[in-house]
Amino acid sequence: MTLSRPSLLSSMFLSAILLAACGKKEEKKSEAAPAQEQPAAAAAAPIEITANDQMQFSTKAIEVPAGSQVTVILKNIGTMPKENMAHNFTLLKPGTVVADFATKAMAAKATDYIPAGDPSVIAHTKLLGPGESDTLKFTAPPAGEYPFLCTFPGHFALMQGTLTSK
Ligand code: CO
Repeated sequence: MTLSRPSLLSSMFLSAILLAACGKKEEKKSEAAPAQEQPAAAAAAPIEITANDQMQFSTKAIEVPAGSQVTVILKNIGTMPKENMAHNFTLLKPGTVVADFATKAMAAKATDYIPAGDPSVIAHTKLLGPGESDTLKFTAPPAGEYPFLCTFPGHFALMQGTLTSK
């Protein structure tokens, strides 16, 4: 009879220590200094977006420098009557559930489908009928991802996108 087998118990103990040493994942952002070419309040080029009778924005992704002065020009290039097909550009706070917000907005016909005083809204254009346009100016919010949509009833499913501030 031999007793030369390694101790199973001690190898299990070692495994437990190794598992415990597997520390939490740490995602650290680059230490690189932020770019200094632009002053914080620099005005970026206007961002032109069109909206059409097919319920499409011409872009679903916008990038802006955080803190810059942003100009969004929305043009409704459709021809359908405003009561059936109108568009706006509405920018929401990060984490806003777009479908939930759109449901609230649907009930706000008297204020062109923008719920009055809603804290989720950062900025919005007017509601535009065919051929109309509106220029919206705002200060780009802190770095993050901000949903935008058209709040006209039923449009958010197709008419939504993300503004990335960075
Ligand atoms: Co629309």
